[in-house]
Amino acid sequence: MTFVVWRNKLIQNRAISAGLKTKMSKEQENGTTQRSSLHGHWSSRFAFILAVTGSAVGLGNIWKFPYIAGQNGGGAFVLVYLVCVAVIGLPVMMSEILIGRRGRRNPIATMALLGEEEGSSGQWKWLGALGVVAGILILSYYSVIGGWTLAYIPKSISGAFTGASAADVEAIYAGFTGSWVSVTIAHTIFMAITVIVVARGVERGLERAVRVMVPALLVLMLVLLGYAATSGSFAEGINFMFTPNFDALTWDGVLQAMGQAFFTLSLGMGAIMAYGAYLPEETSITVASGSVVIADTIIAVLAGLVIFPLVFANGLDPAEGPGLVFVTLPLAFGQMGGGVFFGTVFFILLSFAAWTSALGLVEPGVAWVVERFGRSRTQAATMVGGTIWALGLGSVLSFNGLAEFTFLRGTIYQNVEYLTSNVMLPLGGLLIAIFAAWVMCRNSTSEELRGVGTSYKFWRFLTRYVAPAAILLVFLQAVGLID
Ligand code: TRP
Repeated sequence: MTFVVWRNKLIQNRAISAGLKTKMSKEQENGTTQRSSLHGHWSSRFAFILAVTGSAVGLGNIWKFPYIAGQNGGGAFVLVYLVCVAVIGLPVMMSEILIGRRGRRNPIATMALLGEEEGSSGQWKWLGALGVVAGILILSYYSVIGGWTLAYIPKSISGAFTGASAADVEAIYAGFTGSWVSVTIAHTIFMAITVIVVARGVERGLERAVRVMVPALLVLMLVLLGYAATSGSFAEGINFMFTPNFDALTWDGVLQAMGQAFFTLSLGMGAIMAYGAYLPEETSITVASGSVVIADTIIAVLAGLVIFPLVFANGLDPAEGPGLVFVTLPLAFGQMGGGVFFGTVFFILLSFAAWTSALGLVEPGVAWVVERFGRSRTQAATMVGGTIWALGLGSVLSFNGLAEFTFLRGTIYQNVEYLTSNVMLPLGGLLIAIFAAWVMCRNSTSEELRGVGTSYKFWRFLTRYVAPAAILLVFLQAVGLID
C-alpha cells in the first residue's frame, strides 16, 4: 500500500484515539454517492493491483494449493478450484471492491453505511465483524507456516539440503516441525515482524517491494519449472494435475477446492473491501480484478507444475500434507546446480510473500481495535498480534506435542484451517454476493462497474444467481444435507 495512504490512516487513527469524530467528506454531506476516502487513494491503478496481488499471492498459492490438491487426488480438485476461481472468485472480488469503493471506510463501517443507504439494515456490520475474526484465526496458523519459511532460509544457506536424499529432507522437516521450541521461535519472529510493521503503518518500501517480489517469484518459479520439466517425472505430474478423476473427489473435497479459491484470492473477509476503499473513481474494477485473479492463478498452477513432477520422481506421497513443499523443493534445490543460491532466494521470496499477506490479514483487526477502543496503532497491533500469537501456539503444537490431540477435523491446526477456509470465507463470500447483487440497487452497482453493458450483465448474473447457488450447493452437499 502506498506510504501516503498508510500515513494518512495513521494520522486519522490518532485523531480517533484522541476522541475526535471522523469527519464525513464533502460529497457525502451533500448527499451524493461518490465519497472520497479519509485515508487517501492509491497512486495509480497499478499500485492497487500490486497491493491486492501482494495480499493474494502468498503461502496459499505455493504451500497450500499443492498440498490440498495432493490430498484430494489432483486433477478433479484442480478443475473444481479453477471453476470456482472463475465463477465465484472473480465476481465476489468485483463485489468486494465495488462495495469498498462505494463505502470508502473500514469493512465494518462500510457494511453498516451501505446497508442503511441501500434500504436494508446497519446490521450488515456483522459481516465485517466475521471478517475480522476470520483474519485473526487465519493468521494464527499462517504465521506458524510463515515461521517455517523463515527457518528454511538459514537451512538453505547452510547447505543442509545439498545432495540430500528424500529421506534426509523428510528427516530435516520432521526434526524441525517436531520441535515445538524451534517452531515457536520461528512463529514468534514472523509475528513480531508483522506487528512492528503494522504498528508503524507500512513503510514506504512496501509498494516498491511488491513490485519486485511478485515478478521475481514468477521468474524463480519458471526456473524451477525448467528443472522439474527436465529432471522430474513431468508427464506424471501433469497427468496428476490435469486429468480429472472424479472418483478421487468427495463433496468435502469440492468444498475444500471452493474454500481454497476464496483463501488464495483473499476473499470473503473484507480484506479486498478495505483495499477497494482507496481505489480512485476512474479505475476499472473489472480490469483490476481480472488481472489479480489471473496473476494469482498462474502462480498457483506453476507451483503445482513444479511440485508434482518432483513428488513422483522421488517416490514421495502427493497426499503427505502441509510438509509437501518443505520436502519437495529442498530436495530439488539439493540436486540442482546453484541450489544453495536458488533455495535461499526462494525461501526469502516466499517469506516475503507470506509477510505481505499477513499484513492484510491483521489489518482489519487492528483497524477495528483502534476505532472501537480508541487505542493507538501500536497498542492495537500489539494486542491483536499478541492474541494471534497465543492462538498460534495451538497450531505450533499440532505438529509436535499435541499432534495426537484430535477432534472433529483432526488437530487444532486442521480445525482452525477448516473452519476458516471452508466455513467462514465461503459464508462471508455468500453474504457479500447477496449484498452486492440483491441488496444493493442496480443503479449503485452499475455506477461502480461503469454502465450496464455485457460485462455488467455477466457480473450481475454470476453474483446474483451462480455464486450464491454454487456456494450453497457445495455447503449443503458437504455437510450431507442433500445428495
Ligand atoms: N491470499 C493469501 C494467500 O494465498 C491468504 C489470505 C487469505 C489473505 N485471506 C487473506 C491475505 C486476506 C490477506 C488478506 O496466501
